[in-house]
Amino acid sequence: MTVFAGYSRYYDLLYRDKDYAGEARYVSNLIRHHAPEASSIMEIGCGTGAHAAELAGMGYSVTGVDMSLGMLESAEARRSDLPSDLQSRMSFTCGDARSVRLGRKFDAVISLFHVMSYQTSNADLASAFETAKEHLRPGGVFVFDCWYGPAVLRQWPAVTRKHLSDDVTEVDRIAEPAIHAETNVVDVNYSIKVTDRLTGTTEVLRETHHMRYLFSPEIDAALSAAGMSLIDSYAWMSDERPGFDSWGACFVGRG
Ligand SMILES: C[S@@+](CC[C@H](N)C(=O)[O-])C[C@H]1O[C@@H](n2cnc3c(N)ncnc32)[C@H](O)[C@@H]1O
Repeated sequence: MTVFAGYSRYYDLLYRDKDYAGEARYVSNLIRHHAPEASSIMEIGCGTGAHAAELAGMGYSVTGVDMSLGMLESAEARRSDLPSDLQSRMSFTCGDARSVRLGRKFDAVISLFHVMSYQTSNADLASAFETAKEHLRPGGVFVFDCWYGPAVLRQWPAVTRKHLSDDVTEVDRIAEPAIHAETNVVDVNYSIKVTDRLTGTTEVLRETHHMRYLFSPEIDAALSAAGMSLIDSYAWMSDERPGFDSWGACFVGRG
């Protein structure tokens, strides 16, 4: 069971203001720039399928993979509410980024919202990159974002608090980070207080997400080791190079 098993129940509420449509357009532009004819996408760590739905709406066919059954349940629920032409271009399957093999190739592989930072050891990151390479047709592109080391070390992880509510649920989330110099990993300790607004009952979830911050040269080396080449990198959602202010950075590899 992953930390996302409990988290999935509140995930879409916590990230309801995230600009999934804008991010999908951004990623599509990157894909189109490097692979103009691309139409099929594998999404590693698809979560609740919000990017997949946007990309299907743009005409791509998207196969989402995630290791959390809870996230996949939400993804299927999202899919079932969409028009049938979009539904037919989306599918979801359970699998681990480090080992899943779908037995087919795609024009692009994407992995968004720091999924690669969840691959905290060198071995796990290498395996996830090999999965991407394995599913890319020759010349296809791998687009992913991650925590970017130079900005994490400069800005430094801080305690954050997020409070959100809808008609039925109220979520109050505190994140307390602990950084580890030798592993380049930040343990983000979440305390999530969830209140059922109808009954007033509360529940507190505690979980730790281990996030690795990555540096361009190690990404370059790991992509090469997996048989890909690093062709582009940006501060997330911009056309600037990643820098000391870009906590999230986006990388493009070619298979
Ligand atoms: C922060 S969420 C991002 C979900 C989605 N991409 C989004 O943008 O909303 C991270 C996701 O990565 C998935 N994940 C983390 N490590 C994974 C692995 N090794 N294999 C498959 N999924 C993984 C989690 O289950 C979770 O759904």
